[in-house]
Amino acid sequence: MDNNLSDAVSILRVKEETSLIRTFVFDRSFVFSPGQFVMVWIPGVDEIPMALSSENTITVQKAGDATSAMFALGPGDRLGIRGPFGNGFTKGEKVLAIAGGVGAAPLLPLARADCVMTFLLGAQTEKELLFVDQLDECSDVLIATDDGSLGLNGYVTALMNDLNLGAYDRIAVCGPEVMMRAVLTKVEEKGIAHKTEFSLHRYMKCGVGVCGSCCIDPSGLRVCRDGPVFSGDLLLKSEFGHYMRDASGRKKNI
Ligand SMILES: Cc1cc2nc3c(=O)[nH]c(=O)nc-3n(C[C@H](O)[C@H](O)[C@H](O)COP(=O)(O)OP(=O)(O)OC[C@H]3O[C@@H](n4cnc5c(N)ncnc54)[C@H](O)[C@@H]3O)c2cc1C
Ligand code: FES
Repeated sequence: MDNNLSDAVSILRVKEETSLIRTFVFDRSFVFSPGQFVMVWIPGVDEIPMALSSENTITVQKAGDATSAMFALGPGDRLGIRGPFGNGFTKGEKVLAIAGGVGAAPLLPLARADCVMTFLLGAQTEKELLFVDQLDECSDVLIATDDGSLGLNGYVTALMNDLNLGAYDRIAVCGPEVMMRAVLTKVEEKGIAHKTEFSLHRYMKCGVGVCGSCCIDPSGLRVCRDGPVFSGDLLLKSEFGHYMRDASGRKKNI
């Protein structure tokens, strides 16, 4: 297993997880902590941040130019990888994981490390749910879908209402920021924001703390170097859930 800061990998296999999400299996493994990310260079297109969903995979949702270009790649094609970078989720004995959509990607390795007691998994429909079988093997999984096609009919945050949140050591969260902000509001009401960790998705250029494009207001913390995983109490009075910046640095409402 290697841990070089920069290298080329070949794609061994591509797995279609849902209509919009694919897992790319590399011919190289990386030493990493669940929650850490790599910068993926798609030759001739762009370099983008992606969480490692295992030691040799990333799980990608089609969003724009770079991710669409990745969807045109297959076995034998090559990508540049820098990293792993950033911190990871804090491990604990009784962790509650909450994932929305492709947010399950950095939480799957946490569950595989036997760290997750309960996993709340949400998506718009049953067909968009990620990693259901793999998660079933390592945690107690509760499901919510927006259209009610599987599990609770509603948002994944509604599943929190039936749990004794105080019984968990840590709560690890990744998903759309609106959903993560809803989680933060709930845990703040219970006075346990400090036990909660959120993995932020922000536009990144350098990935190593130099360019400043991923700073969050008002602290100036850099998502690439100080995160991407942040404690809930650090995010309470921040831009989190309100706005983020695009490639030109302009604010974009969430
Ligand atoms: C630490 C980290 C880990 C990530 N892990 C994953 C992952 O495991 N799987 C996955 O599918 N995506 C992940 N992302 C998000 C991914 O980096 C973006 O979806 C990707 O950069 C979009 O590139 P694009 O050129 O395809 O789209 P663009 O054309 O750049 O953008 C399409 C849309 O996505 C938004 N966007 C662009 N960059 C980001 C970004 N970095 N975060 C959030 N929204 C963005 C744009 O504002 C726009 O609305 C992660 C982001 C970070 C910062
Ligand atoms: S991406 Fe350059 S400082 Fe974070």
